[in-house]
Amino acid sequence: MPLHSRICDILSIQYPIVLAGMGGASVPRLAAAVSNAGGLGVLGAAACSPEELREWIREVRSLTDKPFGVDTLLPASVRRDPTDAAGAGKPSALELVSDYQAFADEFMRQEGLTKVARPRREPNVNDQGGPMFFSKEFFEEQMEVVVEEKVPVYAAGLGNPGPWMERMRENGTKVMAVIGSVKHALQVAAAGVDVVVAQGHDGGGHNSPIGTMALIPQVVDAMGGRVPVLGAGGIADGRGVAAAMMLGAEGAWVGTAFLATDEAGIQQFQKEVLVESGDADTVVSRSVTGKPARLVRNKWAQAWLDADKQPLPMPFQSMIAGPVLAAASHDQRKDIAPGFAGQGLGLIKAIRPAREVLNDLVSGAEQALAGAKQFT
Ligand SMILES: Cc1cc2nc3c(=O)[nH]c(=O)nc-3n(C[C@H](O)[C@H](O)[C@H](O)COP(=O)(O)O)c2cc1C
Repeated sequence: MPLHSRICDILSIQYPIVLAGMGGASVPRLAAAVSNAGGLGVLGAAACSPEELREWIREVRSLTDKPFGVDTLLPASVRRDPTDAAGAGKPSALELVSDYQAFADEFMRQEGLTKVARPRREPNVNDQGGPMFFSKEFFEEQMEVVVEEKVPVYAAGLGNPGPWMERMRENGTKVMAVIGSVKHALQVAAAGVDVVVAQGHDGGGHNSPIGTMALIPQVVDAMGGRVPVLGAGGIADGRGVAAAMMLGAEGAWVGTAFLATDEAGIQQFQKEVLVESGDADTVVSRSVTGKPARLVRNKWAQAWLDADKQPLPMPFQSMIAGPVLAAASHDQRKDIAPGFAGQGLGLIKAIRPAREVLNDLVSGAEQALAGAKQFT
């Protein structure tokens, strides 16, 4: 039986496999390749300026006539007032930036890294001394582009897209939200999202403290069949897709498995790391964005542990980490900037075309689901 679920009808796609929005990795040609192969390609647009986001949407439209999605972040903590994050009586995150900058400078000196010319996406400081990149205004301007461009699918990678639901609905945009707990799933379901993505602790990037296997069925139960659920986190082959579906999900949101593809927007040395690494080679760290994120073990994440130093909250930590990781990426330092990845790493054996990865996820899931009959 061909792999099919309600998700295919809602999103107008052939297979219920969705490319996870991955900042810097899920670029237009990867999203288009996945959509053209019958899944749903989702742009990882979290770090795109509004202008870049518009360019990306137009580029993906030129590469596919199939539906595609846009993923950005809408973190509640930032949309309130991030400068409050430190708590009363403590120095504000903004006051700590210069001390933390010195820590980053010393790390760069020890590692022989030199600052590179400012990349387009480097965190910036606005006229009031607050961060522009990943600020409330930054996220809201991105959402204006999402609405104006009438994208087929929008995915909120963090936070609740509730305030934009009405305008997106008018455009016919289907809306998904990535969540890591039942409580958050209920909040986004109440806002009227079409699909909930339950992403567990095994996943790459920002993640939940709850393991994927435990999270999916609890979210499925909480949704009570009203909102379909995609499983996510550590799903890197067809058996993982099948397992998520056995837990009640109606498909999968897959990140890491699509990172080691020809079309992914990350650098070649980072793709090689994925092939070389195994199940135990990731850690969860706040050292990159200020929120817990799973990444390939590296010296930058380790430096914060060794110094017993708490990274700053989002969005301030990006101001510290951005230049360090840009310099390390420029120097192709596998030991410092290998990137985000999930625990399914050990299943990645080669860098391949995205179409091949999608086809294997589908056929592997079909085989595993058919084979399950042997146990009853
Ligand atoms: C390199 C990388 C970058 C990511 N960037 C984002 C992002 O910008 N927005 C987002 O919603 N999730 C992001 N994530 C999380 C993914 O959307 C997805 O939930 C996760 O990759 C699923 O787990 P898996 O990698 O084990 O498949 C990222 C993940 C990775 C691996």
